[in-house]
Amino acid sequence: MAPAVGQRVIVVDHPVLADRLAVLRAADTPHGAFRQALFEASAILAVEAARELPVTEVEIQTPLEPAVGHRLPPEITVVPVLRAGLGMVDGFLRLLPDARVGHLGMQRDEQDLTPRDYYERFPQELAESYVYLLDPMLATGGSAVHALDRLREAGARRLELICLVAAPEGLKALEERHADVPVWTAAVDRQLDERGYIRPGLGDAGDRVFGTE
Ligand code: PRP
Ligand code: URA
Repeated sequence: MAPAVGQRVIVVDHPVLADRLAVLRAADTPHGAFRQALFEASAILAVEAARELPVTEVEIQTPLEPAVGHRLPPEITVVPVLRAGLGMVDGFLRLLPDARVGHLGMQRDEQDLTPRDYYERFPQELAESYVYLLDPMLATGGSAVHALDRLREAGARRLELICLVAAPEGLKALEERHADVPVWTAAVDRQLDERGYIRPGLGDAGDRVFGTE
């Protein structure tokens, strides 16, 4: 287990991200517009999180003369938590087109709010990879904690969590179990309600992405 060093929580402050978050929060945003706003918000989160990737200096030849360039690490993996995390994949791949994509299927039990696994498939290169776990909602934190447990068990070492809306309760749960994993988010909301929904939040992200409300 990670030492309790205090979680790094980066609340990304960007006017375009704030605008897309307002679209995502609005109850009357239909699923097509919701998906598009989630794609755009995720691309902004990808730009911000990728800022910290190490680059390797390379010699390149421009059409005119030799020059020095910088390239990204060869192994980057994004892992969406199904279903809602799928809505963040394209935003990341737009910036990081060579990233591998793992999948984690998880469904929160509506009664006890604990996550149940139903699918898992990771690339073999997890140990060498910079891994971004994608899930727009960090509510109780149960899904994110379990997803990070599974990724570590599968060999992942360099992990970051990318979400859109985090509840204080979820951040606390993460700090207790994965304090060394940086969390990138567009907002930290007020609290969870009695049904485990984030308030003010944006409702059920998976249903809103896929039009299944
Ligand atoms: C939502 C969300 C997270 C989880 C967060 O998924 O996308 O995965 O709940 O809640 P937690 O922090 O309390 O674990 P859900 O289980 O509703 O599945 P879905 O995406 O298929 O709708
Ligand atoms: N999952 C969601 O999709 N929304 C919430 O508010 C909490 C968990």
